[in-house]
Amino acid sequence: MQSFDLAIIGGGPGGYVAAERAGAAGLATVLFEKKSLGGVCLNEGCIPTKTLLYSAKVYNYAKQAGHYGVHNTEGAQLDYAEVVARKDKVVRKLVGGVKAAMKAGKVTVVNAEARIEGKEEGLVVISAAGEKYSARNLLICTGSEAAVPPFPGLKEAGDVIVTNREILSLKEQPKELVVIGGGVIGMEFAAFYNTIGTKVTVVEMLPKILGPLDNEISETLQKIYAKRGIEFCLNCKVTGIEGNKVVYENPSGETCRVAGDRILVSVGRRSNVKGFGLENLGVEVGRGIPADDRMRTNVPGVYVAGDAVSGTPMLAHVASREGEVAVNNILGKEDRMRYEAVPSVVYTNPEVAGVGLTEEQAAASGRDYAVARLPMTYAGRYVAENEGSDPSLCKVIYGKEYHEVLGVHMLGNPSSEMIHSACIAIETEMTIEQLKEIIFPHPTVSEILKETAFTVK
Ligand code: NAI
Repeated sequence: MQSFDLAIIGGGPGGYVAAERAGAAGLATVLFEKKSLGGVCLNEGCIPTKTLLYSAKVYNYAKQAGHYGVHNTEGAQLDYAEVVARKDKVVRKLVGGVKAAMKAGKVTVVNAEARIEGKEEGLVVISAAGEKYSARNLLICTGSEAAVPPFPGLKEAGDVIVTNREILSLKEQPKELVVIGGGVIGMEFAAFYNTIGTKVTVVEMLPKILGPLDNEISETLQKIYAKRGIEFCLNCKVTGIEGNKVVYENPSGETCRVAGDRILVSVGRRSNVKGFGLENLGVEVGRGIPADDRMRTNVPGVYVAGDAVSGTPMLAHVASREGEVAVNNILGKEDRMRYEAVPSVVYTNPEVAGVGLTEEQAAASGRDYAVARLPMTYAGRYVAENEGSDPSLCKVIYGKEYHEVLGVHMLGNPSSEMIHSACIAIETEMTIEQLKEIIFPHPTVSEILKETAFTVK
């Protein structure tokens, strides 16, 4: 039986980043992955969707190029099969990169399903592909999968129904797509297909899309996409499927139907915590695995990171950081997980990004807060690069007495590349006055954060 310092189950952004850090720190590490290294993020989540969305952005740029004095691109055509093939190429390349990183870190990668057998002489014993492995520590990074509710008629609808996984490998562009759930996955696919000419309907049971986002931002984004042709059915709960039709109840209690040649189910994700022997170690399991701020479970030597953790944001960057915290604690280094400055991004066009408290959360917390806001057009670079009339916004929520930055929310490109400075501000408990003293490069859109701070007297 091969013996290791650390066994990691799951090779997504939680598992492979932890393996890389552990390997670099000299821990003998084994990583079990039953599918492809990179996990959902790299194979059927973050990376493939952003690759598709970038093709849609390029297509859109081509069609809009006339606004920038560039002509003869208005008739641009998008080759769906080529777009999907490029996405596959990008994924292959990055999976190769993870493989290389594992090799460089001297991590033993076992491409097989792992099963926890129990403990022997204080070591965790794991079996995979007929072999047994033992380890002093175990890190569970088994991730999540799409939650597909048992809607009546769902099974009969066959391959009309897709999740984030199947929709990535469709051979043909749907003519009409119905999206059940206007959350992050739903809105990113809705944005992609809307841009490339599919008729898209989003059915969402809440009164707003992108539930946890700052209301002002999500409402503005919805208006932008409604203008571009997406139909939003809000306050509409899906109750069933009839062939290629989604059945839902509208706010007046009437039963309505909307048809599509594909139906995307994006109503949330569920942690993968069953079927691999956690019970053999006595690890506490609910909908996910509870962990403390050092990513320790109730069983000494057993850690958890990523979507398998209960009650924390299901985001790749959270998973990676949790993996690092677990490894540091295994190494005996002081490190704790903090969730106050977790950025979230929705890769629509325009992008949306936020960190910290939303205005609604600040109000609900009973804090004495104030809001500073500016459209992105106050940054010269934004004006130089954004023709058209889409609304944009930078919104800073801060404490009224001490002016500490509590939350930053942005709508406009490239918010995804700017939000980390707001993460640093929140993580280091910066005040508006300290933010004003930071030198931002000019001309960049990022200056909008400083400009917004300067609206505070
Ligand atoms: P979500 O929780 O973001 O959204 C699901 C939506 O479905 C909710 O708005 C909910 O109200 C709605 N819903 C549920 N049941 C319904 C019904 N019967 N009828 C109508 N609407 C219904 O879940 P989603 O979009 O599946 O994403 C899962 C996870 O993946 C999230 O935690 C998200 O953070 C993560 N993710 C992050 C991305 C990013 O950071 N850019 C991209 C994609 C996913």
